[in-house]
Amino acid sequence: MKRIIVKLTCLLAILFVSSFLAKGVKAQVHDYVYDYERMSRAVVSMLNAVENFIAVNIDVIDCNNAFIGKPIPKDAACNYKGINPEGGCMRIGKELTQRTGIKVKFASEGKGKLGLRNKENTPDEWESNQLKKFATIRYPKGVGFGEVEMIKETLDVQYRYIYPLYVEPSCLKCHGDPATSPTKDGKDVTGNTMEGYKLVELIGAISIVSPIEAEPTTGTEVVFYDYNKMAKVIINLLQMPGYFMARNLDVIDTYGAFLGKPVPQNEPSSYKGINPVAFAKTITTEFAASTGIKARFISEGKGSYGPRNPSEAAPDPWELIQLRKYTEKAPNTEGYGEVIKISAVGLTVYRYFYPLYINELCQKCHGDPATSPTRDGKDITGAYMENYKVGDLRGGISLTFPVK
Ligand code: HEC
Ligand code: HEC
Repeated sequence: MKRIIVKLTCLLAILFVSSFLAKGVKAQVHDYVYDYERMSRAVVSMLNAVENFIAVNIDVIDCNNAFIGKPIPKDAACNYKGINPEGGCMRIGKELTQRTGIKVKFASEGKGKLGLRNKENTPDEWESNQLKKFATIRYPKGVGFGEVEMIKETLDVQYRYIYPLYVEPSCLKCHGDPATSPTKDGKDVTGNTMEGYKLVELIGAISIVSPIEAEPTTGTEVVFYDYNKMAKVIINLLQMPGYFMARNLDVIDTYGAFLGKPVPQNEPSSYKGINPVAFAKTITTEFAASTGIKARFISEGKGSYGPRNPSEAAPDPWELIQLRKYTEKAPNTEGYGEVIKISAVGLTVYRYFYPLYINELCQKCHGDPATSPTRDGKDITGAYMENYKVGDLRGGISLTFPVK
């Protein structure tokens, strides 16, 4: 009898301790999944914004003398430039993989017998299951799904996240009714067969795979580590679309140009209102709404020039300290982050600063006024060129995260 009691007590003790442990472990896993989910949502919101931007502005990109936000000029000469919403996003997605290890894919089942435009978008088993769920009428619209997955072969863990895409008015131009084909042969401007998708129909999903790494598990370091890691991914996210635009500016502005080919020299060219920072800013708005993280492009400007957009780019005191610090130690590609308590309003935030330096691409607009294309010291956007040199600090990206 005594032995049974001892055994029972032991068992109870073990049960008690293990339930305690299980709770501790659960809480830990929960928090960290939360951060991976937030990071995945940041990636999705950026790609979504780029995709929508290209879809909505495809005629501005393709047509001569067009300007963003204005009607396309009548009888404008237009040509497809190899820039399409999914293709543009995938270029950015592949660069993101190189820089951060996070993999990005547009997964789709295609439409009926037509299948996919690009075989690389064939879903794997996990994606296929999620796409089926998204397609049922009971699944709530616009809600992503994420979970931790173990890779059987290597026993590594990764976080997977998938977000459904529905057909919007701007997508119909290429994916809609073949009877509306601009070339009257059932094909869209890119030369692909139009699939006959209807408005709000599920067309595919953005699928994100993030490697999960070992992390510190105790102390204040944990919070710091996670925010720092997320900040680095976000900085990459905000930079890449801008660089994509900066690199392909001549393709966008020049009639007859095509992505990846030399830009024709004797064709008409006009600025279309698409510049790297304005483009990145359209993305930050959508990004802040979906993640709660605020992002700003800031600058003190150069000498008497000041920032180009003072109402939005003027630095606050914390940002000013960072800008000055980085001017001294330029060039430096490490960002800087810290947790800040604003006791007056009882708020704690994590702030992160990342420096932006001038390279050859930027000089086209921010470089030597003597190289002005209009010979009046202004760049193609009509702003005064500030005479920045390669390697000069142009400004920075400033992030503010709410801390739980
Ligand atoms: C200018 C024409 C054009 C517009 C507008 C357009 N797409 Fe596409 N879409 C394409 C092309 C071309 C491809 C194949 C790209 C490639 O080769 O990877 C594609 C591929 C896709 C794919 C991958 C499926 C497949 O068949 O490979 C998805 C998903 C997709 N588009 C969604 C959208 C959504 C959502 C919109 C609207 C927001 C949109 N597209 C607007 C031209 C367009
Ligand atoms: C097509 C011309 C063009 C190119 C190329 C260009 N910029 Fe700009 N840049 C602009 C314009 C126009 C603005 C003002 C945008 C706005 O309205 O907010 C700007 C604003 C900025 C700002 C915000 C601060 C301010 O003065 O308002 C930063 C930072 C910046 N650019 C950095 C860069 C970097 C870095 C590159 C190279 C990767 C680059 N730019 C390439 C035209 C350009």
